[in-house]
Amino acid sequence: MAQAHSKSIVLGITGGIAAYKAAELTRLLVKAGYAVQVVMTGAAAHFVGAATLQALSGKPVLTQLWDSAAGNGMTHIDLSRAADVILIAPASANFLAKLAHGLADDLLSTLCLARNCPLAVAPAMNREMWDKPATQRNLAQLRQDGIAVFGPASGEQACGELGMGRMLEAETLLIELDALFQPKRLAGKRVLVTAGPTYEPIDPVRGITNRSSGKMGYAVARAAWEAGAEVILITGPTALTPPPNVRVIQVTTAQEMRDAVMREIKRSAIFISVAAVADYRVAQAAQQKMKKRDTAPTLTLVLNPDILAEVAALPKPPFCVGFAAETEKITAHAKTKRAQKSIPLIVANRVQDAVGQDESELILIGAHGMQTLARAEKLILARTLIEHIASLL
Ligand code: CTP
Repeated sequence: MAQAHSKSIVLGITGGIAAYKAAELTRLLVKAGYAVQVVMTGAAAHFVGAATLQALSGKPVLTQLWDSAAGNGMTHIDLSRAADVILIAPASANFLAKLAHGLADDLLSTLCLARNCPLAVAPAMNREMWDKPATQRNLAQLRQDGIAVFGPASGEQACGELGMGRMLEAETLLIELDALFQPKRLAGKRVLVTAGPTYEPIDPVRGITNRSSGKMGYAVARAAWEAGAEVILITGPTALTPPPNVRVIQVTTAQEMRDAVMREIKRSAIFISVAAVADYRVAQAAQQKMKKRDTAPTLTLVLNPDILAEVAALPKPPFCVGFAAETEKITAHAKTKRAQKSIPLIVANRVQDAVGQDESELILIGAHGMQTLARAEKLILARTLIEHIASLL
């Protein structure tokens, strides 16, 4: 689910097979509250029908620079002034090249050049076209010009080949679009986030771990980046794709996570400890696989370092945020943890509601009381949490 909007968007569709996905994107944008004006290039009309997009957007689709209904003949100026954002999806290699060079030879390219609002592109093309130095040069230029590039993804392509160049799915594009509008409350700040579980080996094939998908931590890292921060994500083993534009450090054990955090913490203004760190490790992990015997072995466990407590106890600690996943007495346990670790903010959640799920419900507990964030997607919660942290700094 995306955030509710009352914003105007120009959805530009260029020629490529992924243009069929623009119909679903239009539907989702309208559902999310955007007023959508579809503008198609001539080539796009070969792939998707204007009638479909008109029905979904509720507005006539525009294609031509010269046959506009605007009385002053200035459709490109009027449209670009009315828009809060322009999204080109799909953006063909040809259109990216035009944008990079400032060409304006049809309605869509002209209104991109005439815009005074953010512009985002969702490239879609064959993997060979994507890989060409010319395309990559153009993309680098677009990024340098402040144009947001969403995707592409890697995977099976319409031509049957496998590789980079698939347009992002409509749901993902909506999330990327929401990110553009997040206030840059953490601009210039460095944020360190830990996420996922840690894994403590017993022998080369067995280990002790905690239940954690990493979804909340990855969402927090992403939300911090959206808010303008430089983000370092130190993550235990997860099956997730890290958010873009975040520096990722992969670790396995609590000790490795601790060492990575201590190395990176110095210049960080904020430390958000979302990881489900294993409290104990096996005193002496076996070097070879342990063989099954008739009697069960006894494992001697030793305490792992408490990373958050160690960071909070530094002479000049960053702003520390802890997470408390509890099964009962949620706020009471979380308050105790906050006091024990001397941290300004702790985020409590119920294990049964949160672990492994895409949604959660959070309780923010700080010096000035509690605030409950109703059940929502983890990225939506993470954005509110980041706003909250920014307001406390
Ligand atoms: N944490 C940490 N290092 C540890 C254990 C936990 O940094 N060795 C961090 C977690 O990332 C989280 C918070 O501390 O932000 C959780 O506090 P803690 O009391 O350690 O939680 P649990 O281990 O779940 O405590 P308990 O088992 O007593 O519920």
